Amino acid sequence: MKRNWLGLVGPGALALCFATSLAHAAERSVAQRVEQLMGQMTLEEKVGQLNQLSGKEFTGPATDKVRSMEAEIRGGGVGSMLNIKGVADTRRLQALALQSRLKIPLLFGLDVIHGYQTVFPVPLGESASWDLEAIEESARIAAREASASGIHWTFAPMVDVGRDPRWGRVMEGAGEDSYLGARIAAARVRGFQGARLGGVESVMATAKHFAAYGAAIAGRDYNAVDMSGQLLHETYLPPFKAALDAGAATFMNAFNTLNGIPATGHAGLQRDILKGAWGFKGFVVSDWGSVREMVVHGYAGDLADAAAKALTAGSDMDMESNAYASSLAAQVRAGKVALAQVDDAVRRVLTKKFELGLFDDPYRFSDAAREKAALGDPRHRQAARTIAGKSIVLLKNEGGALPLRRGLRSIAVLGPLADARRDLEGGWIVKSNAASMASLVDAVRAAAGPATKVRYAPGCDVACRDTGGFEAALQAARGADAVVLALGESWDMSGEAKSRADIGLPGRQGELFEALRAIGKTPVVVLMAGRPLIFEHVAEHAPAIVYAWFPGSEGGHAMADVLFGDVNPSAKLPMTFPRTMGQLPIGYQQYETGRPVRDEKNIVYKSAYIDAPNTPRYAFGHGLSYTSFAYRNLQVSQPTMGAGDKITLSFTLANTGQRAGAEVVQLYLRDPVASVVRPLKELKGFQRVSLQPGEERTVRFTIDRETLSFFDRRLAWTAEPGRFELMVGAASNDIRLAQAIDLAP
Ligand code: GLC
Repeated sequence: MKRNWLGLVGPGALALCFATSLAHAAERSVAQRVEQLMGQMTLEEKVGQLNQLSGKEFTGPATDKVRSMEAEIRGGGVGSMLNIKGVADTRRLQALALQSRLKIPLLFGLDVIHGYQTVFPVPLGESASWDLEAIEESARIAAREASASGIHWTFAPMVDVGRDPRWGRVMEGAGEDSYLGARIAAARVRGFQGARLGGVESVMATAKHFAAYGAAIAGRDYNAVDMSGQLLHETYLPPFKAALDAGAATFMNAFNTLNGIPATGHAGLQRDILKGAWGFKGFVVSDWGSVREMVVHGYAGDLADAAAKALTAGSDMDMESNAYASSLAAQVRAGKVALAQVDDAVRRVLTKKFELGLFDDPYRFSDAAREKAALGDPRHRQAARTIAGKSIVLLKNEGGALPLRRGLRSIAVLGPLADARRDLEGGWIVKSNAASMASLVDAVRAAAGPATKVRYAPGCDVACRDTGGFEAALQAARGADAVVLALGESWDMSGEAKSRADIGLPGRQGELFEALRAIGKTPVVVLMAGRPLIFEHVAEHAPAIVYAWFPGSEGGHAMADVLFGDVNPSAKLPMTFPRTMGQLPIGYQQYETGRPVRDEKNIVYKSAYIDAPNTPRYAFGHGLSYTSFAYRNLQVSQPTMGAGDKITLSFTLANTGQRAGAEVVQLYLRDPVASVVRPLKELKGFQRVSLQPGEERTVRFTIDRETLSFFDRRLAWTAEPGRFELMVGAASNDIRLAQAIDLAP
């Protein structure tokens, strides 16, 4: 056969070579431009690039020095601003920066955590969708709106694994599981940054808070963290590595100490792991004031010492400590800090500014026409409603209590969150849409139609210390065909610095539920919160419970969509829900121990509580549907995995109900005998499968050596020969099929 030499390098390969060489040329040109600029910079100008100041809307403790920041910007003493938003203000401040000697543009960063103008469900709620495409789209829309308003950089995604619901910041993350968290982290980075950094509809992402911030002792925000290298590498680092592999442009460090060393001054984390082993080329920004806080921690003697320790440990940019601005140049001159490390930090920051195209056009992200178009795009609100519907978890549904029938004569929508609007948005929003939002009551009225009378009574406010309004609520319920009771947290009861020692329903909200039960009007319950709550009586006696988290700008309509069945719920819990505070911390990744609890009746000399149940109220991965699914016929392509082999696990999923629906099938693994004891279950895969009534589909997972691997006692990532149990189910406590395989020596 005549060989066409082009056949060796077909057109597709040629195009790939051309694109790769273009990218390399672009990288070279950025590197050359950075070096050329660095060569002109004084030490003070270099330090200026590592100094980040906040606009007037502080997102942390007010700093003790009110600075004339505009003079600092004009003098080249500021590299980035945070908490500045909108085309007008970003253009005005950028113009000041361009008056500096070297005209280096500013970076504008902002906490665009779950939306800019359009507010999506809080990240923990979005994570309950387990829908990576929808999560990516949500970040994409946020980036589109933010980048049109002058924002170059979002301080998101927060990728901290959160296993203690007392910690208010579980609201901002993806829950308790490292595998799920890693995939969601990557999806959010892709969404924010788009196909490539530098596109005008993209913003730089930030993987935060590096690292292990979610393991704060006792769930108390900012508290110390103490953990083994095993737990750090196995659980808390993977989502950060996934964010880096997805191209995260920046990292943000954390307030906590890790084994006695503040993350901000932790060279092991920032230099050895992040910039060393992982090869991170972006830059690290400190969290708000965390450089200065090293003095408070007792790790630095004064601000100058903190500046030296932070920079040397790999913290490139100082957010709001004024430590670098006030001390770094002197510390270099005193030989306390290597100029080469300052240069490395400055190089990293300037490289991002060049990659964003800011030296070619410093105003390219501040475009009034684009801002108007992006912020007003109705498709964004529709997307917010869709993902909110996918985030709402049906925890319980007995006796067909849900979905509500249309055509009812009357519905009572009661409770302190029934007419909430601002609360639906949750914490960490940029701009509230409360004025244009539908509350749950509004949405139920719209969904029920004009023939149905919808009555509303709050019963009490969210704090619910005063039951004076209960009677009016009972009165509204007495004449109703259906009663919906909306309970939970206000938006500011979860989030940063919102740790709670008691995660029960606030105040006397539970009594409002009991009062309705007492008159024979037991309600369907809608719960809103930024974390798992404890609500045992409601869980025991409500016929149906829907967990809506804080569902965002379109949350009212999304909740009504689920209540009336216009959306069939498909969400699954990304965090375990405890029955009692005493069970905390609780999660699905339990260990067998030497005295396992097999059932609650036999707990003598067992690893069990004698005064409380030993199972969660709702398990990780739990979530019901208005239809039902059957799992059948699990098979593996081969029972033993040899070197280089991959095994395909397959099974049939069938929709055995009367309505279309989506099921998030979950793959779990157990390594029953290993050189380090392994958890009873580890999530190793999931797929969201949509099926029509009666439809069935073969679902496949690929199992490879990576799937079977873990960090051994020397922290080497390894898979050990022997038996492994593969489990497939609808929740971590609802395993439907199982199969053992062997890894050959
Ligand atoms: C806050 C938060 C961090 C946020 C930063 C800027 O204290 O810890 O997540 O990005 O300050 O607002």
